[in-house]
Amino acid sequence: MKLLKDKILNQGKVVDKHILKVDSFLNHQLDIKFLNEIGKEFKEIFKDTHINKILTIEASGIAIACIAAQYFNVPVVFAKKTESKNLDKETYESEVYSFTKGKNYKIRVSKKYIEKNDNILVLDDFLANGRAVLGLKDIVEQAEANLVGVGIVIEKGFQEGGTVLRNMGINLKSLAIIDSMEENRVKFR
Ligand code: G4P
Ligand code: NA
Ligand code: NA
Repeated sequence: MKLLKDKILNQGKVVDKHILKVDSFLNHQLDIKFLNEIGKEFKEIFKDTHINKILTIEASGIAIACIAAQYFNVPVVFAKKTESKNLDKETYESEVYSFTKGKNYKIRVSKKYIEKNDNILVLDDFLANGRAVLGLKDIVEQAEANLVGVGIVIEKGFQEGGTVLRNMGINLKSLAIIDSMEENRVKFR
């Protein structure tokens, strides 16, 4: 997606060779006009796929999921990372290892909000090692729902997530794939 690539080139900052900071438009400040174009693009890509729910993880996935959901006309469910008194007792849970944080964390979704045979599109901002998506896939499977697609805004192609997910047969579409990053030199696939 050209608009996204230009935005990354103009506003992205490479930190420590493998982290791309995009918090002027995607991860902290949100550029809504731009995110709308992202939402439309996901709809275009998945227009022939029957989807009745979008699933993501808090926090930064929520913005993208909500904007895209308006074009799909479906509800958004986001997995929670923190234990909370507001969360129902009956939940699907999965353990996710974060390389960025160097530790495991749990994600949870109330059993009320994923139904058997739901056709679920998972959306997220970044794909690195793919652990977050695998955790969501695990929850979808526990609920006996169908993971019909995964849409990612920025895939870091030099990390293993994309290969792992595609080799599993997951219908993964990324709007931009970065093959390499060096100080202010980002190369796209
Ligand atoms: P993985 O799920 O693909 O295995 O990724 P990993 O554990 O490495 O990523 C952990 C968090 O860091 C995720 O955010 C992910 O979106 C984010 N992340 C990974 N690589 C980058 C990057 O290059 N740039 C930025 N800006 N973020 C990256 P999260 O835990 O979901 O946190 P948040 O959504 O609450 O921010
Ligand atoms: Na993030
Ligand atoms: Na995220």
